[in-house]
Amino acid sequence: MSDSMEGADPILERFRLDGRTGFVTGGGQGIGRGFAHALGEAGAAVAVVDVVPARAETVAHELAQKGIRALALCADVTQPEQVQAMVQTVVAEWGRLTIAVNNAGIGQWVDSEQMTPADWRRVLDINLNGVFYGAQAAGRVMLAAGYGKIINTASMSGSIVNTPQNQAAYNTSKAGVIHLTRSLAAEWASRGVRVNCISPGYTRTQLVNDLVQTPEGRRMVPEWMRLTPMGRMAEVSDLQGAVVYLASAASDYMTGHDLVVDGGYSLW
Ligand SMILES: NC(=O)c1ccc[n+]([C@@H]2O[C@H](COP(=O)([O-])OP(=O)(O)OC[C@H]3O[C@@H](n4cnc5c(N)ncnc54)[C@H](O)[C@@H]3O)[C@@H](O)[C@H]2O)c1
Repeated sequence: MSDSMEGADPILERFRLDGRTGFVTGGGQGIGRGFAHALGEAGAAVAVVDVVPARAETVAHELAQKGIRALALCADVTQPEQVQAMVQTVVAEWGRLTIAVNNAGIGQWVDSEQMTPADWRRVLDINLNGVFYGAQAAGRVMLAAGYGKIINTASMSGSIVNTPQNQAAYNTSKAGVIHLTRSLAAEWASRGVRVNCISPGYTRTQLVNDLVQTPEGRRMVPEWMRLTPMGRMAEVSDLQGAVVYLASAASDYMTGHDLVVDGGYSLW
């Protein structure tokens, strides 16, 4: 029997990233670090991008120790010219850019009636504007090449409203990332550039550790676990398969998708 499966590479081969090159913003710790390791272990060359140079260098060194081609680059995602220069450096170094992971982001708990314009702008600037600048700079290179995989880190907070903490700016920024992903996906689909996002639930990283330092924060964790069907936070390793899938040929017919990895949180 012959059908349209014939001629495709064996399935695990289609998950491999050999010959692909990419960057991960906010790659210096947490989820971005996990994404950088996952892409590298799957065969890609990875530029680790962070606003804190020492973090990027540490992770690039970890990758090199595993035999992965890696670069440490410093860029603040809120500065479009720095993001553009970062992309140009990757292309100059490796000749191509096939994977762009726009992951840098910050958390914030502020009651809306207390929020200052500066609070609001800072979260939107890093979490949403920064994703656009990264996607635009990568998209320009990928559209010219006729192929590329853009992966944005959104959050379950882009689809649900977390409780009991108040985080309107964060939730709004992540809803923006999901719809930006869908908008760019539609715009670029016919020219070979796929744009998807990953929406983690609560994940054990510094971002969450910082937020739960306060007694109030510590009180919230049991409540988060009660609201999560799986009863636990994600480990960074729980998210690594999603980024490899979206970066690989195995997902080439998927675009504009929000891949939710939240232990079931958004089901209830
Ligand atoms: N941890 C969670 O529970 C969780 C859940 C859902 C989504 N997310 C999202 O995942 C992403 C990563 O979160 P994390 O928990 O790994 O955070 P993290 O704070 O552990 O790491 C974020 C990294 O981004 C870098 N960064 C911050 N601002 C930057 C900027 N302007 N330019 C470049 N780099 C910058 C930081 O230096 C840091 O290395 C964020 O977008 C976050 O919103 C996190």
